[in-house]
Amino acid sequence: MKHISKTFGSIKANQDVSLSIYPGEIHALLGENGAGKSTLMNILMGIYRPDDGEIWYKGKRTDIRTPKDAVALGIGMVHQHFRLIPTLTVAENVFLYSGKKSFFLHHEEMQKEIRECSEQYNLQVTPEALVWQLSVGEQQRVEIVKLLHQGTEILILDEPSAVLTPQEAQNMFDTLRKMADSGKAVIVISHKMNEVMNNADRITVLKGGMVEDTMLAADATIERLTRAVVGERSLPEQQKKDPEEADRRIGTIPLFVMDKVSALNDRGLPALKKISLEIYPGEIFGIAGVAGNGQRELSEVMAGLRPVTEGKCFLGEKNLTKASVKQHIQEGIAFVPEDRRQMGLVLDLPMPMNIILKSYHSERYSRRGILRTPVMWADAANYVTKYDIKHGGLELPVALMSGGNQQKLLFAREVSGKPRMIVATYPVRGLDIGAAESIRNILKEQSENGAAVVFISEELEDIFGFCDRIGVLCDGELMGIRRVEETDFQEIGRMMSGERGDAV
Ligand SMILES: Nc1ncnc2c1ncn2[C@@H]1O[C@H](COP(=O)(O)OP(=O)(O)OP(=O)(O)O)[C@@H](O)[C@H]1O
Ligand SMILES: [Mg+2]
Repeated sequence: MKHISKTFGSIKANQDVSLSIYPGEIHALLGENGAGKSTLMNILMGIYRPDDGEIWYKGKRTDIRTPKDAVALGIGMVHQHFRLIPTLTVAENVFLYSGKKSFFLHHEEMQKEIRECSEQYNLQVTPEALVWQLSVGEQQRVEIVKLLHQGTEILILDEPSAVLTPQEAQNMFDTLRKMADSGKAVIVISHKMNEVMNNADRITVLKGGMVEDTMLAADATIERLTRAVVGERSLPEQQKKDPEEADRRIGTIPLFVMDKVSALNDRGLPALKKISLEIYPGEIFGIAGVAGNGQRELSEVMAGLRPVTEGKCFLGEKNLTKASVKQHIQEGIAFVPEDRRQMGLVLDLPMPMNIILKSYHSERYSRRGILRTPVMWADAANYVTKYDIKHGGLELPVALMSGGNQQKLLFAREVSGKPRMIVATYPVRGLDIGAAESIRNILKEQSENGAAVVFISEELEDIFGFCDRIGVLCDGELMGIRRVEETDFQEIGRMMSGERGDAV
């Protein structure tokens, strides 16, 4: 890609970007939220047309006008948000895009072909499974198999590890390495610096739509990458926790109580098994565990989105066991969902409409049934400043904002209403390091003002650096609860794999 530029309205998403990709390499793209990473890759995929610049492929200048052109050339992309059809099987999804124009699908042949492909690259998929039943990690493998099956030579993955457990992420990179070794080129967008340094061959950092730095992974250090990503602007300081302060809080009356709570998952199977816990006002309570062990269901029960089949939930004196979502909101429970695009935002609506989704009936946003538009716009503008949200105009649909900026918007809306408890599911996933730190600081500020914060994450570093206590989930059971000062990675790791500790 030579001298690529692309503007959206007043935003220069890419300015004079040049990028060379070689066969056999894993090339990582790094940069803050809104730096232009997805845009650049969408241009390579023919989804956007550049305003300026040229694309050269195998020594020839090439015009990529549509995704079809890209696929025909052997360029394929796994998007930041997957594009599988949930009600079809894995095999059907793979073949749907294969371009093989046979009217009849031969199931056995399809399954055999997929198995071969997945064996060659060590990608575990079940051809006959329905996509909606798969975990995110599995869905991602299906997306990769789909590309391999199309004969892709340049694979682009937009933040592939953001939704994976550390183990799954490593498996994925092992697969990508196999692909590179077989002569394919791999481009990976990521916010995780360690991961990039350990797995890529070269790294390019974008900043404000331009190439800020490009280097061999062997020459990269955290300092150099951080400087390239965030510039000279210093990161917000991480404040230290005070264990005595935590002691005082834990001695008070609990704000939120779960008493032997059980619940089912979407497939109707037991997902939570007799969970009992107490969360104190002002406390940051971390939930650790490998994804898929009940975190989602636990957060949804806390937010009133998932029915409880057994046991009770209380917020203060109030029994919320059977309360509606609306009652949970009114009682002051805020929820940052895992899947912001499906549950949190209406992508076709602009920012001011999105911020009132949960409170359009409140005094603040409506009087006598009429929406108070100026207040909505003013609030949206405030969020933009406070959370450093990058956007092309408040009147535009939020679909046009970058993934990380959508996440910031959702977060801003959720924590703005002075909640008593915030249930934050992977709140810093997909955020650049600066944005992640400011989100943590805002949660900390809320906890200092007395709110209870439930922080669900797979990254133990995050949980240890940030929480007062840690509860560990494994297979829907709470394996135990620990004060951060009284435990370590090893113990929590053992509990994550099913070893029971006694609750504190
Ligand atoms: N279709 C569009 N219309 C208007 N603005 C857009 C469009 N697509 C992207 N933008 C803007 O261009 C800029 C770059 O966005 P892009 O999605 O490329 O960022 P990114 O580096 O992928 O960020 P993230 O890490 O948050 O995913 C952002 O400011 C975004 O709001
Ligand atoms: Mg992006």
